[in-house]
Amino acid sequence: MNSAATSAPVTSAPITSAPITSAPTTSATKTLSAISCRRLSKVYGASETAVHALRGIDLDIPLGGLSMLVGPSGCGKTTLISVLAGILDKTAGDCVVLGQDMGNLSAPQKTRWRRDQVGFVFQSFHLMPTLTAVENAAIPLLIQGVGRSKALAGAAAMLNRVGLGHRLSSLPGELSGGQQQRVAIARALVHSPRLVVCDEPTSALDHETGQQIMLLLREVANEGDRALVVVTHDSRIFEYADLIAQMDDGRVTEIRQGIAAAAPGPL
Ligand SMILES: Nc1ncnc2c1ncn2[C@@H]1O[C@H](COP(=O)(O)OP(=O)(O)OP(=O)(O)O)[C@@H](O)[C@H]1O
Ligand SMILES: [Mg+2]
Repeated sequence: MNSAATSAPVTSAPITSAPITSAPTTSATKTLSAISCRRLSKVYGASETAVHALRGIDLDIPLGGLSMLVGPSGCGKTTLISVLAGILDKTAGDCVVLGQDMGNLSAPQKTRWRRDQVGFVFQSFHLMPTLTAVENAAIPLLIQGVGRSKALAGAAAMLNRVGLGHRLSSLPGELSGGQQQRVAIARALVHSPRLVVCDEPTSALDHETGQQIMLLLREVANEGDRALVVVTHDSRIFEYADLIAQMDDGRVTEIRQGIAAAAPGPL
């Protein structure tokens, strides 16, 4: 892009731009991929009211990086990350996430897999209104069976990392939208999941807080054996991506690597 690209915090990936291929997944790429989708589709509803939200997604996302999904409203971004995170079932196609074929899991297995492997930041936060910030952030640990005081201590440490150490006892209703967003991000990271999925994580944040959150997500991505997938409309954070997947009308239309990805087409 621009001046922002020159100050990009992470830019080890080669600057290339290549059209997506639909080559079959090899065993080598399976090992290295956090996510591998082939002809993935999702249809909401049936017959004349059916909505074809995903229309044959081909996508590989590597372990150890931060990938972004961009594209116009309604193109299927939230649907795609919900399928990747095991929140929604696919309609057809293949989807392997962290080595797990999502089509092979029963509903209870999927719930357990999600509990242990996934942190999700929802577009609309989904905080529990009657729980304090620290209790909200502790939920994934409590669900995993971690003792209450240890879970709250872990949540407090994570809230400190997102700059909310001073609001541990606040209820969501007492927090600004940006602060609620940061509680949601702390909740997604607190149990060190291998897949972190964030739906518009900076949309409610001012520029400086958004940059701080992206630095934190970058740090998490750099920890190695995990993957972060961030849905965004916010061009100011493209510089943090290792890979940008452009979506349109239920398909991935282009994959860009490194900070050259910082200038995708219209959103
Ligand atoms: N539960 C649902 N039932 C029926 N259709 C749905 C449902 N959820 C999403 N859709 C439709 O699926 C398509 C993709 O929606 P999705 O929310 O994935 O888009 P998006 O790219 O995340 O959009 P935005 O940027 O506005 O958040 C849209 O046409 C949407 O109306
Ligand atoms: Mg969405």
